[in-house]
Amino acid sequence: MPFAHITGWGISVPEPILTNDDIAKMVDTNDEWIRDRTGIRERHIAREDQSTSTLAVEAAIKALQVANLAPTDLDLIIVTSSSPEYIFPATACLVQDQIGATKAGAFDLLAACSGFIYAVNMAAQSIRSGSIKNALVIGSETLSRFVNWKDRNTCILFGDGAGAFVLQASDQPGGVLSAVMHSDGSGADSLTLLGGGARHPATELTVHEGKHFVQMDGKAVFRFATRVMGAATKEALELAGLTTADVDWVIPHQANFRIIETAAKYLKMPMDKFVVNVDRYGNTSTASIPIAAVEAVEKGQLKAGHKIVFVGFGAGLTWGALAAEWTGPMPAKKHVHPEQYRLFARLRSLLRRALRYIEGLLSRREL
Ligand code: ACO
Repeated sequence: MPFAHITGWGISVPEPILTNDDIAKMVDTNDEWIRDRTGIRERHIAREDQSTSTLAVEAAIKALQVANLAPTDLDLIIVTSSSPEYIFPATACLVQDQIGATKAGAFDLLAACSGFIYAVNMAAQSIRSGSIKNALVIGSETLSRFVNWKDRNTCILFGDGAGAFVLQASDQPGGVLSAVMHSDGSGADSLTLLGGGARHPATELTVHEGKHFVQMDGKAVFRFATRVMGAATKEALELAGLTTADVDWVIPHQANFRIIETAAKYLKMPMDKFVVNVDRYGNTSTASIPIAAVEAVEKGQLKAGHKIVFVGFGAGLTWGALAAEWTGPMPAKKHVHPEQYRLFARLRSLLRRALRYIEGLLSRREL
């Protein structure tokens, strides 16, 4: 049975930064309150010309570059997002087209902030089963478009960004070792975005009522998160035959510094084993774990052979954890430039659109 290794990684974070002081000009809050209660100092907010799919594409290209893998060698693309480009088509299909992954199946996965753990596990299991060899998993968010900037309970928390992993099959032991996924829909009301779906289709009233914004019972989510983070980490470790003593890094969902601290206490692990960057990004939902992981790699903290645990929670309610041995790029046969495929992909996409248009014209004439 092949093993599923993480062989490439990349992030894309918009440059514009919104500080706590900036937010204090919009709602009744202040830097000290936000830092004390959440640990957040600033977050990145997408420019108008950026969106969930454009950030996803940037992160994907970087991940393919690290893995030295051509987009045409991808078998599967999973995008997980709490702020997808549309209800449909799937953001993953837009990415597939824009990077030129002509042989890949593509779909979106919704498990809110736990999405990246779910998606990496789905890709890993597809590789382990032998049905695919190469997968791309992306967590991408522009939650700033779904936040009510007049609601101080939520607007202080979220930020935009994307992170991507390439997973590849190999006979070498390692890579994804275990994963647990959980849900409890009885807590669905704690964190919602109700407008625009089948229950509340978009109308003037739904817009007036603010149903298209994130709504959250912060205390309920906080209680739930502190209950599940440590327990899920332990579960994933046990499944992998590891203990907390074996772990080099815990890379948790970056929602609130106090939640991460509580998990560390529960696990009796020192905080310096936890990768934390919530202070500079806020909560980027599905992107928070890959952004933290890639930063740890770039700082030289996370290295090949290290044992790691990803752990997260989110709306649904959902939560999960995944244990892995960090691998790094596989030995390359030839040097690949994924960026070049993007240019061909744009051309091919334009040509296909033109052909579809001509087909439409011809079929109308025939009628
Ligand atoms: N600035 C100043 N005061 C504020 C602010 C603010 N931004 N927000 C709330 N307050 C006030 C409240 O109105 C309240 O005042 P009151 O006592 O007069 O009523 C007081 O501060 C305390 O509010 P609490 O809600 O009790 O504050 P708490 O310590 O619980 O912190 C927070 C709130 C930060 C939202 C916390 O509950 C939290 O982090 N919860 C988890 C949220 C989370 O992680 N969500 C993402 C999940 S992942 C996903 O799927 C997207």
